[in-house]
Amino acid sequence: MKCIVRSGKPLRGRIHLPGDKSLSHRAILFSALAEGESEIENVLLAGVTRPMLEALTAFGVGWSLVDRRLTVNGRGLEGWQSPGTVIDCGNSATTMRLLAGAMAATNVSGILDGTAGLRRRPMDRIVRPLQRMGVDIRSTEGFAPLFLSRSERPLRGMEHELSVASAQVKTGLILAALVADSPTHIYEPARSRDHTERMLRSMGAEIETGPVEGGRYVYQTRVRPLSSSLKPLRMRLPGDVSSAAFFVVSGLVVPDSEIEIENVGLNPTRTGLLDTLLEMQAILEAEETSVEGGEPCGRIRVRFSSLNASKVSGERVVRMIDEFPVLGVAAAYARGETLVADAQELRYKESDRIARLCQELRKLGVEATETQDGFRIVGKGRVEGGTVEAHGDHRLAMALIVAGLASKEPVVVNGAEVVGESLPEFIPLLRSLGAEVLCED
Ligand code: S3P
Repeated sequence: MKCIVRSGKPLRGRIHLPGDKSLSHRAILFSALAEGESEIENVLLAGVTRPMLEALTAFGVGWSLVDRRLTVNGRGLEGWQSPGTVIDCGNSATTMRLLAGAMAATNVSGILDGTAGLRRRPMDRIVRPLQRMGVDIRSTEGFAPLFLSRSERPLRGMEHELSVASAQVKTGLILAALVADSPTHIYEPARSRDHTERMLRSMGAEIETGPVEGGRYVYQTRVRPLSSSLKPLRMRLPGDVSSAAFFVVSGLVVPDSEIEIENVGLNPTRTGLLDTLLEMQAILEAEETSVEGGEPCGRIRVRFSSLNASKVSGERVVRMIDEFPVLGVAAAYARGETLVADAQELRYKESDRIARLCQELRKLGVEATETQDGFRIVGKGRVEGGTVEAHGDHRLAMALIVAGLASKEPVVVNGAEVVGESLPEFIPLLRSLGAEVLCED
């Protein structure tokens, strides 16, 4: 699909977003590990969450879906069946890494595979630590497909030092740790999103977290083996702050815009972009209004702003790891030099987001330069326009569409169908705010 975006009227209005992607993955999976019926409202139904739902069926776990309300008949840690077929994780690394941990916890055999894109994402980071715990898991030279076989019980409680902060890896290890013989300790070089810890605690797991003083590792998670089964989950999922990011930046760069986004997750491990935009002089308010299943949520209000450049590095990078494509667009509309460092991980996302973002922004007349662990964008307060490619990356596609909302000439985004991976409602929601986006197959 090709989308043609033209700058036009101010964007105005109030929107609600589907449930957070990270929370949806966890809620679907953890409900299947619980014993009894879980009910989750506002689940994200998109390309990345379908494989997780279909995997439940393959493991013998029943579920039903009416609108965005999901009911899962959890079978506990001992009730999963080994599937007869390869589990297709689609293009979702979260599905693959979380399922590896869940299969370790439930002691089922199977093969996890996915698209060519997913086969390029590093998997040793989850395979190696699981092997140390006694899980019989193999990768294909560090990549998918992953092969799991039943292993001896119990698994070994271990200390893991993660070289890269990763909530996906941490979650896979926490799941395996639930059935270990002793507590498991996970150390991270930065604090990654903590949805797993919050959700599993609400289901009865004993997980402690806290800072580590001095040294390379700054955050620790301690998991005790479960003494009883996980309780079912009842939760309404807040909207996805990573999806909200595209509307926030749209409101900031299109003159005279004013946008309100209701019921968005505001977990502080996810709100790094909002902090960065505030430092860039964005007129933006994020107000916490409630707590859903241990997750803070609220309202974001944003108005057109004259943005300044910014510097992003260190722990902030992890708190906004999915938001760099859209930060790149905000930086192009800002004035001055924006510098991103310590963000090497961006090279291992749905695309090499350092290389692809800079390459595509340059096609739009933006001065964007790659560095080994980040990028440099010299913002001139405007974007020229042109034709760009999405490279199979949903967040790059959405960011480039946002770039066209205030550009001098139209922006044409090829391969834009990939937005359906995380937010199929993206284009209709943008149009509901007044954006001029024309898409054709
Ligand atoms: C996610 C964690 C992050 C993020 C991804 C979702 C999660 O990945 O980029 O979109 O749900 O745990 P890493 O764990 O690889 O940093």
